[in-house]
Amino acid sequence: MKIITVVGARPQFIKAAAVSRAIARYNADNNGEISENILHTGQHYDTKMSDVFFEQLEIPKPEYNLGIVEKNHGAMTGRMLEQIEKVLLDERPDLLLVYGDTNSTLAGALAAAKLHVSVAHVEAGLRSWNRRMPEEINRVMTDHLSASLFCPTEAAVQNLKKEGIAQDIYNVGDVMYDVALKYRSIADKKYGLEQWRLEEKGYVLCTVHRAENSDHKGRLQSIFNALNEIAAGIPVVLPLHPRTRKMLKVHELEYLLDPLRIIEPVSYLEMVRLEMSAKAIITDSGGIQKEAFFHKVPCLTLRDETEWVETVDLGCNKICGADREVILENWNATCEDRSLFHSLEKKGMYPYGKGSAAERIVEVLAAGDP
Ligand code: UD1
Ligand code: UDP
Repeated sequence: MKIITVVGARPQFIKAAAVSRAIARYNADNNGEISENILHTGQHYDTKMSDVFFEQLEIPKPEYNLGIVEKNHGAMTGRMLEQIEKVLLDERPDLLLVYGDTNSTLAGALAAAKLHVSVAHVEAGLRSWNRRMPEEINRVMTDHLSASLFCPTEAAVQNLKKEGIAQDIYNVGDVMYDVALKYRSIADKKYGLEQWRLEEKGYVLCTVHRAENSDHKGRLQSIFNALNEIAAGIPVVLPLHPRTRKMLKVHELEYLLDPLRIIEPVSYLEMVRLEMSAKAIITDSGGIQKEAFFHKVPCLTLRDETEWVETVDLGCNKICGADREVILENWNATCEDRSLFHSLEKKGMYPYGKGSAAERIVEVLAAGDP
């Protein structure tokens, strides 16, 4: 079976690492039955946003790198569509594998569906119900173009059913949980907090990059005002996404970075290390909300809603939006009590599976070999 995997943005490298590894394991037992070629659209291109993940997570080197960097969504997605189609016409794969909800995801799914190449979507069924988010448009479209839908949660399965998608839906668990489990102890051994001059539970880890925050001066200012107030009492470490760096400059808000510990984007292992020992995590990232949950750290989410509803329902994540006062109120109420996380484990509640999502995906794909 011949698979082309399309990736382009940071979280997709991490997700693809789990499945590529599971494919290699499957091949070792099955005479190399599956051939996988990776196509990188180039959407994320800085070494710290891309190469570092391929090296650290031992992801096979991409066969193709399209180098597509565009500012506008239409131009970016359109150029990707055109170039991916060319590769698919040359390669004629049996299956195209896409992850998540970025422009690279949508371009890959659309190019394949038009050529009648079967599409498998990992992280299918997530919904924010907010169509102003580029990610929501990408994920709805991709789900409706896909032949196999690999959902991370039961809520995602139900969302697909509500939209009339009834077949080939698999609740496999979350591939990011697979990766988190694999690298947790490695990160702990490899990195010490001293390199950031931090102490166990003595800092807050923060990330901000979503368009809904970074593109709006008012939201960005309000978030950074809240972070500045929090930073008066405890170090706030923020690995700064290039988008946010650019937008702070555009909005003339760079002065709001001064009270914070700003660092460059970090590698996955460093990020896991920082997550594990944080007193709390404040973020608008989808992946980091879940990682906070995996590593049993309370989370405040800088968005008006989340797709990862389980983290909120279980009391581990508070939705704060971008309002300074709401962020500060929730910060003040954030408890350090981890018994909540432990009791969920005791009750056998694993909303994101048990760390074998990637294996399950490969089993399903191999069983359906055309
Ligand atoms: C993209 C995804 C978003 C995901 C995020 C993960 C879409 C619509 N958005 O958002 O869902 O949460 O990735 O991080 O696909 N830039 C650099 N260097 C890089 C990468 C980006 O300077 O290595 C700059 C770009 O030039 C651009 C800005 O950051 O100006 C935004 O990049 P883009 O890929 O368009 O969107 P993200 O905000 O990264
Ligand atoms: N991440 C990382 N280094 C960083 C910031 C994030 O390795 O400096 C990882 C993080 O641990 C998670 C993923 O990138 O696994 C999340 O990506 P991001 O926040 O860019 O996108 P989202 O999940 O919101 O789409």
